[in-house]
Amino acid sequence: MTGDIARARDLLDHATSVAVLTGAGISAESGIPTFRDALTGLWEKFRPEELATPEAFEANPKLVWDWYAWRRGVVAKAQPNAGHRALADLERQCRGHEVDFTLVTQNVDGLHREAGSQRVVELHGNIRRVKCFDRHHPVESWPEGDHVPTCPRCGSLLRPDVVWFGEAMPPEVLATAVAAARTCDVFLCVGTSTVVEPAASLPFLALDSGARVIEVNPQATPLTGRASVSLRGTAGAILPLLV
Ligand code: APR
Repeated sequence: MTGDIARARDLLDHATSVAVLTGAGISAESGIPTFRDALTGLWEKFRPEELATPEAFEANPKLVWDWYAWRRGVVAKAQPNAGHRALADLERQCRGHEVDFTLVTQNVDGLHREAGSQRVVELHGNIRRVKCFDRHHPVESWPEGDHVPTCPRCGSLLRPDVVWFGEAMPPEVLATAVAAARTCDVFLCVGTSTVVEPAASLPFLALDSGARVIEVNPQATPLTGRASVSLRGTAGAILPLLV
């Protein structure tokens, strides 16, 4: 492992452009359950197609709203961990050496920004934001109560401003992530199962464009076989050693 850490550091030290992709794993040590890990994953208790789709919301808005309210509560109590902080440090170091840096995250918890990361591309939105279902009007505050609150402008139901299964992500957000993957020479992939598209394709796009990939994950993923360095451990333990 020490040799692998040294190799990963060497790749980062010689990079001229770094892209990072994070998934639920990086926030696990902040107490936010991941989606697909056995027993602890959120999806073990709830079927995603029952909760994280526009159809599910239309069928049972209260169930979906309450589930997100619960998740928002978990996120509100969470603090960035050593992994988030290490990525913020990496960004500062890259900027200090005029190395391009883009952090792309699938997470909706906002913890990267809280840790001090600046150039953050939130592919799946942010659970702390709310918008209305029909017209996507952003809404800053809403009453808590037994009913799903409604939009003050158009009266439609409120929903989290996240990207649900079956929904497209904003094109400019995806374009920024794709450009970062295509132009980086080192791609660091942290805490994602790399199964949900289009995020899952980003490290492969980087590989096809000639980048070297470093993976940080306690478990093997579809990416592991193609990574230049695969660091098997948690983000909170490994990332501070890299930076
Ligand atoms: N540090 C690093 N990685 C970890 C840690 C940790 N402490 N704990 C778990 N992991 C790894 C797991 O091994 C797994 O590979 O994090 C990954 C979590 O995978 P998923 O739960 O599938 O999360 P993610 O890849 O972010 O899911 C993608 O799917 O459900 C949708 O929109 C949701 O953004 C999410 C997307």
